[in-house]
Amino acid sequence: MDVITTVRGMKEYARAIKDRRETICLVPTMGYLHEGHLELMRKGRTLARHLFASIFVNPTQFGPSEDLARYPRDFERDRRLCEDVGVECIFYPSVEEMYPASYSTYVDVEGVTRHLCGASRPGHFRGVATVVAKLFNICMPDVAVFGEKDYQQLVVIRRMVRDLDMDVQVVAHPTVRESDGLAMSSRNTYLTPQQRMEALVLKKAIDRAKELVGQGERDTSRIKKAALDLIGEAPSASVDYVEIVDPDTVEPVGTIDDRAVIALAVRIGSTRLIDNAELKAP
Ligand code: PAJ
Repeated sequence: MDVITTVRGMKEYARAIKDRRETICLVPTMGYLHEGHLELMRKGRTLARHLFASIFVNPTQFGPSEDLARYPRDFERDRRLCEDVGVECIFYPSVEEMYPASYSTYVDVEGVTRHLCGASRPGHFRGVATVVAKLFNICMPDVAVFGEKDYQQLVVIRRMVRDLDMDVQVVAHPTVRESDGLAMSSRNTYLTPQQRMEALVLKKAIDRAKELVGQGERDTSRIKKAALDLIGEAPSASVDYVEIVDPDTVEPVGTIDDRAVIALAVRIGSTRLIDNAELKAP
């Protein structure tokens, strides 16, 4: 397996593949890989001849008071996991390589970034869209796989690809969970054992919402209240948002007609966790 750290080296590698008219799938990550990332890679392996992964903790998507400096990293472990899962090449650039001193261009996706994490993490999706646009230009994938765990991110990337006429097929993969239901996340490593237990309130709140919708409830304010009440039972939980949104526009909805997405961001202690699920009227 190759590890490439320069933009130029990565472009040459990808160009040689494209010149042979072979296909590339890219799985972009920030590393500290878990089974969720690896599932994306296993899917990616089936979608193209060549599977690339990128590992880059992207500074432009972190706010000034966020966890950039302490974001977990372990490249040697990530390298082994990628190799085991059949990745052919890891793009692993430095911050200076991706954002040299005179760097000044950003991608701003409007509308779908107005609510949820777009509201609670200003500038976050500008950083995400910018780095993913760069990764697409550098790695030249035909297909890229993203997790539904970051639902709004998936919508943002799809919108960017559509609006900027990028020749990349965006494939979504369902959220991968621990056996007790907690959505896998590199940030779960921040949790103490007590917090790890309390973190289950995210999934419990989603399950409660699904149950209510299953019983015929359509009023999103009542569903949100039930979810908030449940989260309130965890002593170290504080809610960033609980929203029920239209799956395409990511705008909050008052009633569930057919399909909606419940999305939540909850701090457990100082660790901010997100989760989401589709709510489908029976
Ligand atoms: P990161 O959080 O490392 O996630 C990389 C990819 O793995 C994303 O597509 C994310 O949705 C997916 N993922 C994470 N946890 C998952 C889970 N439990 N189940 C399924 N998929 C999961 O998301 C990012 O990095 C960055 O924003 C990035 C897109 C790489 C841009 O910097």
